[in-house]
Amino acid sequence: MQHTNDIKKTLFTQQQIAARIEEMGAEITKDYAGKRPIVIGVLKGAWIFLADLLREVDVDVDVDFMSVSSYGSGTTTSGSLTIVKDLTVDVSGRDVIIVEDIVDTGTTLARLKEMLLARNANSVAIATLLNKPSRRKVEVAVNYFGFEIPDEFVVGFGLDFDEKYRTLKDVCVLKEEAYM
Ligand code: IMP
Repeated sequence: MQHTNDIKKTLFTQQQIAARIEEMGAEITKDYAGKRPIVIGVLKGAWIFLADLLREVDVDVDVDFMSVSSYGSGTTTSGSLTIVKDLTVDVSGRDVIIVEDIVDTGTTLARLKEMLLARNANSVAIATLLNKPSRRKVEVAVNYFGFEIPDEFVVGFGLDFDEKYRTLKDVCVLKEEAYM
């Protein structure tokens, strides 16, 4: 496959990811039984994970997407969140599940969650494929996560470096040379 030479190691294979997503889907199905949550995919990193996760969730959902970028020190949730693409649905009174590729410093998700609560969402949960707790600068409750990873930059399964590597089937660590 393209880019194979840029990969230092594989952290999680396609099969491991699929098995974990099946478990996460079952958890969400149980927790949202009888409800109809709005699932918000955060672009661009989350779309591959979202597509797989939702096919393991057995409750009716509404799906929408947002694209945001956050600025500021990263140490507080009060900095600005720039909405690049907003939702088309009204979250007021609804249960929301934000789907992300990775929670790193937590800045983006903390601000996004705050914004959705300010729009009167009934509840806001977070589901992420990957979680890097050692990098956290802002406290944010991660309700569902696939895997915890150490402080390494990863690509694949939706995650990019400079828009490359998103479509790798595994989650991988790149060789140093690939960043140059
Ligand atoms: P946070 O606001 O620091 O939590 O940033 C989260 C965003 O940073 C993610 O949605 C990714 O787009 C990006 N990011 C953080 N760590 C990585 C990584 O290891 N690989 C690729 N993107 C990452």
